[in-house]
Amino acid sequence: MDTKKSFDMTRRQFVMSSAALLTAGALTHDAVASQGAAAARGPFRVIIDTDPGVDDALALLLAMRSPELKIEAITPVAGNVPLELTLPNALRLVEIAGRTDIPVAAGARAPLLRRLVTATYAHGENGLGGAVFPEPTTKPVSESASEYIRHIVRKYPHEVTLITLGPLTNIATALNSDPELAGMVRGLTMMGGSLSGGNITPAAEFNIYVDPEAARIVFQSGIPITMVGLDVTRKTSLTEEHVRVLEAAQNPASQAAAKIGRNAINHNRDRGFLVGPNMHDSLAVAAFLDPTILKWQDYYVDVEVAGELTAGETLGYSPVAGDLKRRPGMEKDLAASMTIRGSAPTLASTKTSPVVREKYVPNTKVGIDVDSSRFFELLIGRLAGK
Ligand code: BDR
Ligand code: CA
Repeated sequence: MDTKKSFDMTRRQFVMSSAALLTAGALTHDAVASQGAAAARGPFRVIIDTDPGVDDALALLLAMRSPELKIEAITPVAGNVPLELTLPNALRLVEIAGRTDIPVAAGARAPLLRRLVTATYAHGENGLGGAVFPEPTTKPVSESASEYIRHIVRKYPHEVTLITLGPLTNIATALNSDPELAGMVRGLTMMGGSLSGGNITPAAEFNIYVDPEAARIVFQSGIPITMVGLDVTRKTSLTEEHVRVLEAAQNPASQAAAKIGRNAINHNRDRGFLVGPNMHDSLAVAAFLDPTILKWQDYYVDVEVAGELTAGETLGYSPVAGDLKRRPGMEKDLAASMTIRGSAPTLASTKTSPVVREKYVPNTKVGIDVDSSRFFELLIGRLAGK
């Protein structure tokens, strides 16, 4: 296949594909992700919470080049690297994309209850795989990320979707500050979690591992959640070929994405990895833009916060998946009677029952498969488009 040709878009194709996605996204996103009763018309108001981060950087560039999105704010949080780096990295990226119209609000420096664990081993000391860009001149707004999230959600009740690409500290802080807020959020699409094992520990995916208490607040908030976890993001390895297409395109976003991508590929190879890095966060943005790129399954998802070895593990309960699967036809009855069971009580416990929730009600659409080719066509096509 001539990859260069298939990714290279003329301006007309870019506008046409964007318009097609606007329609498809408007129809399918509500149908597939159940994110609000009102008919979706786009552009969608979103806030992007992020910890740039190599894959965050490409995800932000993708979002800022997607006309379906009205990005109300970018809210950096400590995660892949400390806030002292994620904040200027976010500001650099809005400058590179020519989108200094988007407010950037500084977020949390540390998780709710834990010490910060970073991922410089994967993202390099500067968070961008070692790719160096000038110091940003743009300044963040004076409100903190959690205040700004609250402000925007209250300004546009039931209209704002949160797209989260890092630990969920900012979101949980905003929810904790305002008990009515969760009911006013249209939906939350996260890169985070896994139903098939972790990456930083065998149990936990990085974003949830860093702040499991925050993640639990979010999953239990009642906000309709779309989870794009390792189950699907493991299938999004950036290749040399992708980088070459980005390098050939003459726009500042593609040039920056290529520089970050090339550094990150080299960093991965130096560490002995034959593939990668995965574009985890870009897949979350792409899933919001076009949910038909993924297959979805309903789950009740909760987060382990007590484990000595397993904190940050995401558990997905479903009457129709995994070991809980039953004969076709029985699922409806089973869903009605299924309880959510946690660990058995210890002898010392005062609890008499391990049931932590009486009734099964799904709270999350989990991505269970992805068409990786379509994903990369969207990502590289938009970054490389004129
Ligand atoms: C997630 O962790 C971070 O390192 C990446 O940016 C992504 O958000 C993948 O586990
Ligand atoms: Ca991230």
